[in-house]
Amino acid sequence: MAEKALAQGTEELPPPVSTAPKAKRKLWFNVLVTLVAAGYLASLASSHLARVGSAVAPAALQQAPWAQSTPADVQCPAQPKALHPPKKVEWTDELRSSSIKLFQEAVQIPTESFDDNGEPDEDPRWKPFFHFQKWLGSAFPTAWKAAKIEFINTLGILATFEGSDPSLKPLLLMSHYDVTPAPPNTFDRWTHPPFSGHNDGEFIWGRGAGDDKTLLVAQWEAITYLLESGFKPRRTVILSHGFDEEEVFARRGQGRIAPYLEERYGKDGLLLVIDEGGGTSDDFFGTPFALPATGEKGYLDIVIEVGTDGGHSSVPPRHTGIGIMSQIVNTIEDHPFQPKLTKKSPILTSLFCASEHSAKFPKKWTKLLAKGQKGWDKVADEFAETTLGRAQIGTTIAVDVINGGVKVNALPELVTAQVNFRIDFDESIASTQEHVARLVKRIAKKHDLKFEAWSDNNSTIGSHYVKLKTLGIPLEPAPRTPQSGGVWELFAGTVKASLHAADGSELVVSPFASTGNTDCKMYYNLTKNVYRFVGLSAGSSFGAHTVNERSSVKGHFAIVDWVHAIIQNTDAYDGPQ
Ligand SMILES: *[C@@H]1O[C@H](CO)[C@@H](O)[C@H](O)[C@H]1NC(C)=O
Ligand SMILES: *[C@@H]1O[C@H](CO)[C@@H](O)[C@H](O)[C@H]1NC(C)=O
Ligand SMILES: *[C@@H]1O[C@H](CO)[C@@H](O)[C@H](O)[C@H]1NC(C)=O
Ligand SMILES: [Zn+2]
Repeated sequence: MAEKALAQGTEELPPPVSTAPKAKRKLWFNVLVTLVAAGYLASLASSHLARVGSAVAPAALQQAPWAQSTPADVQCPAQPKALHPPKKVEWTDELRSSSIKLFQEAVQIPTESFDDNGEPDEDPRWKPFFHFQKWLGSAFPTAWKAAKIEFINTLGILATFEGSDPSLKPLLLMSHYDVTPAPPNTFDRWTHPPFSGHNDGEFIWGRGAGDDKTLLVAQWEAITYLLESGFKPRRTVILSHGFDEEEVFARRGQGRIAPYLEERYGKDGLLLVIDEGGGTSDDFFGTPFALPATGEKGYLDIVIEVGTDGGHSSVPPRHTGIGIMSQIVNTIEDHPFQPKLTKKSPILTSLFCASEHSAKFPKKWTKLLAKGQKGWDKVADEFAETTLGRAQIGTTIAVDVINGGVKVNALPELVTAQVNFRIDFDESIASTQEHVARLVKRIAKKHDLKFEAWSDNNSTIGSHYVKLKTLGIPLEPAPRTPQSGGVWELFAGTVKASLHAADGSELVVSPFASTGNTDCKMYYNLTKNVYRFVGLSAGSSFGAHTVNERSSVKGHFAIVDWVHAIIQNTDAYDGPQ
């Protein structure tokens, strides 16, 4: 009977979407798995999945011109000519050794960030962060002295290299110096201890080696080498380092630095912001690509509450609160969001780029892409056949926490579940909430329970109810970074000049997207030109957020080359700001 009632209850809902993986593994699947296994997509995909977006959702900003994609955003952007900077890093054996040493030293400082950290001046667990600041100053004395150094909210590090021309908007390079904890009970699973900074000849081992210290150290090396060779910035260069990127409710690091900078430079006051994120792959459908993330999915956590009468288990109702919650969870999981490729999705653009430039892109998909939305829908269905593919082109749902009941002879009075959503580029916080409310309301109705969604109303609605509440601070999908115009050409041209495939060939630069969120979410007021790009090649970095994290020495040198180049080219840039 209950099953029948449930079936009736869900009659008007869309049919459950089949999520059974197909047996046939697609080419793109292999490609994407390669990217993820390589670890450089760590910050794009898996590694940041556990994070709660902490930005104030910039609702007004979503209306900004750059938040709206145009048909031109669907096509693969024009590939600019390689933009060679005046100077290259002159890698001597001595410089290589010193670069490796700096990288190792940074990893050896255990700047672990915990979700329950107290204030910096109170909680002793922040001690290593003060050591790191001291180390940074002594490791890079030339740059440290040349910069105006400010500590924002005690531990945020802001280094400003003032340019001679104040009319030029600054370049800002981000990285974070906190790392996820390496719990002592996992130490025996590390091949080399997590804060050893061990150099095995190919990789530097340790927590934070890949996420994010290779980038931070490379940024300081690049600016140092430039200053030592006589570089005097015309355009201000800013290095900005948060210290709580890995925390669940990150709010003290870039959450404070970005507003501080907004006060100093004003809305849209920066030319270009580059944060951790994508890298390069020699095999994106058979061709070498650079894949900077030009978009980021949104974020929403919710709590579902089911309140029912308690009482003795010997006289139970047909469904206890736990039974009702089970139906809710089932219904939500059986009605996932439709995966989709629309003009809002940077992944659609990646596919257009692969179609245009890649040796092994499926011909069938090329034909479908040419057909417009109908064809894109078909590609989306195939793309979504794997878990990773689905996550990249649709809102995901993860029921992660459930609580209810206290005793086996007592009926549960309150059952709660926490659900995490990663919001697709063509959805919003509101559309995600609507979808869930529609599904849950039906179950509430079936059981004759009062239903309340997203109200801040704390007053009791009796003991028979289902409530939906937002948890933490939700985040809209990121505004899309422009993929044409001067700054795009500057960025992509510099990538082409400074990074290459293993065989030395030039990279196709294609927009890509991130399923997780990084600290750059705090910067959308400051520029539309936000790129999430480290520049590591696939296979350079492993183990982010887990045991045996390591990042390659060769990859580290490549990041130094890339940052060295982008600083010079941005300095010389005279295009539209
Ligand atoms: C409801 O309770 C929450 C958590 O205790 C609180 O933050 C919020 O301000 C309350 N809302 C109202 C309208 O009182
Ligand atoms: C809050 O909830 C109570 C109980 O359901 C209801 O009577 C009241 O009208 C609600 N207040 C608002 C502002 O929605
Ligand atoms: C962006 O600007 C809006 C409007 O001024 C403001 O409310 C919001 O806090 C800003 N966002 C961040 C992350 O500082
Ligand atoms: Zn990171």
